[in-house]
Amino acid sequence: MIGRTFAMLKPDAVVRGLTGQIISRLEAGGLKVVAMRMRRVDHQMAERLYEIHRGKPFYDGLIEYSMSGPVVAMILEGEEAVKRLRRLIGATDPAKAEPGTIRRDFGLGVLKNTIHAADSPENAGREMGIFFKESEILPYERSS
Ligand code: RTP
Ligand code: MG
Repeated sequence: MIGRTFAMLKPDAVVRGLTGQIISRLEAGGLKVVAMRMRRVDHQMAERLYEIHRGKPFYDGLIEYSMSGPVVAMILEGEEAVKRLRRLIGATDPAKAEPGTIRRDFGLGVLKNTIHAADSPENAGREMGIFFKESEILPYERSS
């Protein structure tokens, strides 16, 4: 089933000039960018994005890191979009991610793991709403 998911290139991706390469992998992997914005995450957005992690030992560091530089937020559309994106990015710890995944190839560590991806359709919908208005989603037919 065609669906949508939310992804965010983290500051380590942007500052190392990996934005284009990573978007290329997402597009080649069957995902269509239907909304995209580069911005800085403010404290309130970071807390909303990571609310499921509040209270965990890595929470404060994660909030701080997510605000440390520009990010690129995206809505991606495709067949089984949530699962497809999770497969393309790989495990949270780049050292444990499958070869050929984005985190394995570009991740610096568990925190600076290059890209965030929603982990369920419910969270995808919630996360999209933190960064985008409905009117900013721009569906189109891809031509070859
Ligand atoms: P994400 O939400 O960023 O797509 O990553 P994920 O689902 O693979 O991992 P999750 O458990 O949701 O954790 C969110 C982010 O928190 C940082 N983290 N640090 N030090 C640690 O043990 C630890 N665990 C998680 C990572 O940056 C992870 O992406
Ligand atoms: Mg997660």
